[in-house]
Amino acid sequence: MDSILVKGNGALNGQILIAGAKNTVLKLMCAALLTDEPLTLTNVPRLADIGTLSDVLESLGCEIAQLSNGRVLALNATELTSHKADYDLVRKLRASFNVLGPMLARAGEAIVSMPGGCAIGARAVDMHLDALERLGATIELKDGYVHATAPNGLKGAEIPLRFASVGATENAMTAACLAKGTTVIKNAAREPDTKALADCLIAMGAQIEGAGTDTITIQGVEKLHGATQAVIPDRIEMGTFMIAPMIAGGSVELLGGRMDLIPSFAQKMEEAGAILEETKHGLKVTNPGNGIKPVNVTTEPFPGFPTDLQAQFMAMMCFADGVSFLNETIFENRFMHAPELLRMGANVEVQGGTATVTGVEKMNGAQVMATDLRASVSLILAGLRAEGETQVNRVYHLDRGYERIEQKLSAVGATIERVQGS
Ligand code: UD1
Repeated sequence: MDSILVKGNGALNGQILIAGAKNTVLKLMCAALLTDEPLTLTNVPRLADIGTLSDVLESLGCEIAQLSNGRVLALNATELTSHKADYDLVRKLRASFNVLGPMLARAGEAIVSMPGGCAIGARAVDMHLDALERLGATIELKDGYVHATAPNGLKGAEIPLRFASVGATENAMTAACLAKGTTVIKNAAREPDTKALADCLIAMGAQIEGAGTDTITIQGVEKLHGATQAVIPDRIEMGTFMIAPMIAGGSVELLGGRMDLIPSFAQKMEEAGAILEETKHGLKVTNPGNGIKPVNVTTEPFPGFPTDLQAQFMAMMCFADGVSFLNETIFENRFMHAPELLRMGANVEVQGGTATVTGVEKMNGAQVMATDLRASVSLILAGLRAEGETQVNRVYHLDRGYERIEQKLSAVGATIERVQGS
């Protein structure tokens, strides 16, 4: 298995191109199941998760062609040849559970394995299932599979979510596009990825209002058609690369970066001392060299501070001039990076959902283990300033969500390389 070697080597300077968003493209791919016409996606990132979801979709009969070196995906679900998404495929990627809503809406039947994904918490799917039941589906759980049926089609309904779940909002919204009548999702997720999915569905002929707010109204239509949709920039990749110069020093322009995609995070970065400027081509982050101020954060649904940037923010706070508190409210087991950062000399104490991070003058390179996607990258970020060499093992997690991170970071001056595993 590959590993990444990174050495603390001073400031980073230059430009990094932000890829299309992983969490958007995965949901847009699932939407292809709603129509018998082609859905073409552009600005697609090249990530392992896309291959995994492609396997799931192909197993259902969706044909997928990669064009322009993988930057464009042409999906064609002319006919659904299977209604079952198998355990062996779904367990690798939680987002593949989002085939459930579209498949059920289009075919009246869907059998989908209960999902897997990063080991960051229980990650139940009760809200997904409740939403589909409200739309008139019959749901049974058998042998680790969800069997959902609606032989006479789905019917519009009111769906109040007990929590603004991203995945449940998206599964409900896609299913409701082909339901008869009006669906209103209350306490809906407001994440940019959810809004981007709505924009794609609208381009396919869906009638959706309010995406990006906490109330989404969907007027069901008989049929959706093909479309071409560009994937929005990846705000989590962007946030990760904003932290890099704060840890290592320097100034990096993120091409395609957009402040509106990360409002709370941007504010916390400024509190920590970063200088952020919107430029003609994106967003520039400069470390003024006055040290990192300690900043407390609490993860929340959008527009709050994203849980997917908590690990990276912790890596930055490890070098802050003082004590910061990081509260994780979205996932119950999302501090797995803390023990690995301790191995590099950090001072972090975790109690329940709160990590207390006391900044240290220096950290040292070490062998560390990537435990989930965002945890992996936090170790690389810390390694940019640690003395000596850090070896991050088990980087397959990283490849799920970051496109050749070593190339992007070395282009701005980092000493980082991938070592091919046996
Ligand atoms: C999505 C993102 C993930 C991000 C998360 C929160 C994708 C592919 N992944 O994950 O990167 O960290 O949003 O921003 O888009 N929950 C339930 N029951 C449900 C659904 C969720 O209890 O039916 C709980 C989960 O266990 C978790 C919380 O709600 O504790 C948030 O989950 P959710 O917003 O659904 O996240 P995902 O869609 O899985």
